[in-house]
Amino acid sequence: EERHRLHLLKAMDLAGRLYHHLLTETEHGKEAREYLHDRGILSETITQFQIGFAPDSYHFLHPFMKRRGFSEEVLAEVGLVSERERRGKPSYFDRFRGRVMFPIHDSQGRVIAFGARILGEGRPKYLNSPETTLFQKSHFLYNLHRARKGIRSTEQAVLFEGYMDVIAAWQAGITSGVATLGTALTDSQARVIRRNTEEVIICYDADSAGESATDRGMDVLKQEGCIVKVARMPKGMDPDDYIQERGADAFRSEVIAQAVPFTAFKLESLKKDYDLRDADGRMSYLNQAVGVIADLPRAIEKDHYLRRLSEEFHVSLDALKQEQHVAASKKR
Ligand code: GTP
Ligand code: MN
Ligand code: MN
Ligand code: MN
Ligand code: MN
Repeated sequence: EERHRLHLLKAMDLAGRLYHHLLTETEHGKEAREYLHDRGILSETITQFQIGFAPDSYHFLHPFMKRRGFSEEVLAEVGLVSERERRGKPSYFDRFRGRVMFPIHDSQGRVIAFGARILGEGRPKYLNSPETTLFQKSHFLYNLHRARKGIRSTEQAVLFEGYMDVIAAWQAGITSGVATLGTALTDSQARVIRRNTEEVIICYDADSAGESATDRGMDVLKQEGCIVKVARMPKGMDPDDYIQERGADAFRSEVIAQAVPFTAFKLESLKKDYDLRDADGRMSYLNQAVGVIADLPRAIEKDHYLRRLSEEFHVSLDALKQEQHVAASKKR
């Protein structure tokens, strides 16, 4: 069993090295090299992240791997080849074709899967390894093994949506970045983060999908005991876009360093749902805001935000405190 697992890991490791070699050392990788160069990825980063390229062929990887002693069953088990029936017999072909390959590592830095991007336009934009014995996407985070050092030293993790965001941020000096693998953040991923640090900055795309993912992500992280902040960018941008357009310094000082605490962020986004020029609107907002504050675990935090509301809306702190107690007891 353990021997079989090591064999599977060896297959992934060799495939990763082959894809990387193809990208960096051969004519097959020229277009992909240009693509990455145009996206601002440095060759040093390509090495660090072991980025690779899978040529646009159905029969490139699998004959190579077979010659190296990996059976088609094994290659199918790790998701490197796909299987179809041909005249009653299984026939195998490469899963990843014509794509930039981002290896996904486990916490010990062993390749367990790939995320694969098409060059330019096309669907699907990203194709990931399927769930395998080595890879369950709800348990792993992209880049965790590399980011651990940065997470420890800055005492915070930065959570991104995409591979390219993690990589662009790394080049911009943010080396504590991780990403989920194309799905919403799970409890299990949040626990993994919590084991490494208490503070997490969510830095998702500034679009409606990113906003709702931020809302859900905040709750999941809070549930696991994290202190959550939210980084904000101009509408329509993602972290990678931002770094390309405004540069690394701006990203660090305007986006990451200005990340807003969870509660302040929630109260701000809640405000957009109400017409605050109208007395009824203000009351409804205050009601909801007090509900958010009632969820806070610590009395000093509650006090801080109640005071802010009291000053901003010219209502007595006593009244807000009473409302908070009512809201808190309703939730219990
Ligand atoms: P770029 O266009 O290369 O900058 O990618 P992006 O990371 O900005 O993509 P996007 O914001 O659309 O998606 C965020 C993440 O969701 C990606 O990094 C992928 O992990 C995942 N994702 C995006 N598109 C697809 C897709 O077509 N299939 C799958 N399985 N995952 C996807
Ligand atoms: Mn074949
Ligand atoms: Mn997005
Ligand atoms: Mn994006
Ligand atoms: Mn992007």
